Amino acid sequence: MAIKSVLKMGDARLWQVSEPVSHFDHADLHDLVQDLRDTMQALNGAGLAAPQIGIPLRVVIFGVQQNSRYPDAHTVPETILINPVITPVNDHTEAGWEGCLSVPSLRGMVARHLHIRYQGFDPTGALIDRTVSGFHARVVQHECDHLDGILYPMRIQDMTQFGFLDELFPERAGEE
Ligand code: NI
Repeated sequence: MAIKSVLKMGDARLWQVSEPVSHFDHADLHDLVQDLRDTMQALNGAGLAAPQIGIPLRVVIFGVQQNSRYPDAHTVPETILINPVITPVNDHTEAGWEGCLSVPSLRGMVARHLHIRYQGFDPTGALIDRTVSGFHARVVQHECDHLDGILYPMRIQDMTQFGFLDELFPERAGEE
């Protein structure tokens, strides 16, 4: 389909609560999913939520492939998750750095549940039900926050742990 422009923090549409999808396996839904996939891949993102391209529906895509430049990077299977429900498995949290295509060039330290169960549907309406940990759990929590109008800077507890990527990690200059 198409690479869409990603809304940036300050655009009021990013603060909206998105609506559930009611019709699965529908041409409009498949087109939206392809736009999300094309846009995420073009920008080399780990995930993207429909409201970030101006569509207020509860649809997210995420996935991280093995990258030869970062052999230690975590991999997350590419997943389209619709109408998600997240349930923490326990009270354990972990702080970690996050970025967002709607907040370019910045990174912030955010505490997330370390272990979660997530449930939802794929574009055909098939049930997804997974229990995951660590980076996978972080990506899902970050993307699903977008569906409730929450951007990661709103979750930063220590604002000294929020800044420009090239200042925080000079060795990673050139990334977005
Ligand atoms: Ni984001």
